[in-house]
Amino acid sequence: MNDALDEEIMEKIIIFDTTLRDGEQAPGGSLTDQEKLEVAFQLEKLGVDVIEAGFPIASPGDFKAVSKISKAIKKGAVCALARCLKPDIEAAYNATKPARHPRLHIFLATSKIHLKYKFRKAEDEIFRIAVEAVRLGRKLCSDIEFSPEDATRSEKDFLYRVIEAVIKEGAKTINIPDTTGYTYPQEMYSLIEDIRNNVPNINKAIIAVHCHDDLGMAVANSLSGVLAGARQVHCTMNGIGERAGNASLEEIVMAIKTRRDVFSGLYTDINTKEIFRTSRMINNLTDFVVPPNKAIVGRNAFSHESGIHQDAVLKKRITYEIMDPRDVGVSSSQLILGKHSGRHAFGDRLKALGFRLNEEKLNKAFVRFKEIADKKKNIFDDDLRIIAEDEIRVIKPLWRLVSFEVTSGTKVKPNAKVMLNKKGKAVSGASSGDGPVDAVFKAIDKVTGYNAKLDDFRLEAVTSGKDALGQVSLKLKIKDKIFSGRGASTDIIEAAIRAYLDAVNRLEYK
Ligand code: KIV
Ligand code: ZN
Repeated sequence: MNDALDEEIMEKIIIFDTTLRDGEQAPGGSLTDQEKLEVAFQLEKLGVDVIEAGFPIASPGDFKAVSKISKAIKKGAVCALARCLKPDIEAAYNATKPARHPRLHIFLATSKIHLKYKFRKAEDEIFRIAVEAVRLGRKLCSDIEFSPEDATRSEKDFLYRVIEAVIKEGAKTINIPDTTGYTYPQEMYSLIEDIRNNVPNINKAIIAVHCHDDLGMAVANSLSGVLAGARQVHCTMNGIGERAGNASLEEIVMAIKTRRDVFSGLYTDINTKEIFRTSRMINNLTDFVVPPNKAIVGRNAFSHESGIHQDAVLKKRITYEIMDPRDVGVSSSQLILGKHSGRHAFGDRLKALGFRLNEEKLNKAFVRFKEIADKKKNIFDDDLRIIAEDEIRVIKPLWRLVSFEVTSGTKVKPNAKVMLNKKGKAVSGASSGDGPVDAVFKAIDKVTGYNAKLDDFRLEAVTSGKDALGQVSLKLKIKDKIFSGRGASTDIIEAAIRAYLDAVNRLEYK
């Protein structure tokens, strides 16, 4: 008997992460290049195969971020998006040139709706544009991925023709986007199956799927695509992305891992123990807050409230848990550090949590840690994440908080005094307001000279307990532009001030 014949042939599902492109381009997803770099390092640790780092033609900032990521990432491919236009393709090529493994992702819509209303072009012209773009891309880069945008609403015969032609030009991956999140799982299955049966040279390319979540079926559609033969999945961490978002990486990966019976012979190279850490990073750096009931990474995803469930889980975990929380890197919040902990222990713990702060940022974070440890007895990993991410978020803050004072009560009009530091100089302002938060915000406006309008304000506790850090996330409208800010403190007024200054500093940074 030949043992090898009995062995299951394993096929890898390539994880193409587009958090930094489709996720970042959604309102609220916007990141600075330093933040993008931190996310890219974390995605590398997570083990994604391809990082779609941005859309270089979109802005000089995007170009810079893609090229920084291309220089820094050692494992996997770094990809950049381009329309079928020469300047786009050249920008994507130039930005990814320093990467060890660069990839260009070229896209063009193929649906009748897009041809008629967006391009006002006939099929033959679209066909020619796609072919010429891939030909140009292929001259510059050996790894070309092509996406017929809105594929799921395209006429199948035209779709087959385009796919066959771009593969002839050298496209190695054909991505099938459900751009509007319109399709449903059986349809996606049939589409991939039909492409495999009707495009004569399809075996020369890898089929990918890229699903949006407008009808809440992005993950189901992606997995259906996999069952039909797609071997690459586009996804984002926490499912962030345009409108309702993209297929979520953690759900795809854990479904493939958990349901081996369904996805037999398939695996990903994701280090699932890094999932929770990556999710927290995206939660903390963007405006997309993970809902408590979110699959895999939500706060309640592994907590059992009902007595019957708790009792059964204690007897045998698999009664109500289909996954081990430790497999996705969820550990119960442990007491890690206290006010007597030294800089070394602090730095080591941050490193273990995946942060790479330079000396200056580490020193500042340590000062913040000591301030917080003075007020808060128990410091948990989630507290440390907030402290470290505060340092990553702002590059060089123009305004820093020195001190503040607030009076407020049922019978007094709220009043606030705020002292800020601008380039080494202390400046202060005072104001009354409808409440203490309103008063401090008005006092800050007096100092900065901006007349900011508060567009959104959210407060959440980072950990449990009365002395938990409160994190404020807010949006300010200044000069018709929206800037978001975050700040954390054991004092919620201070957290609000920090968030407000974060947003103002982002405006100054821009
Ligand atoms: O949703 C979409 O169609 C896209 C393409 C650029 C692939 O994001
Ligand atoms: Zn998309």
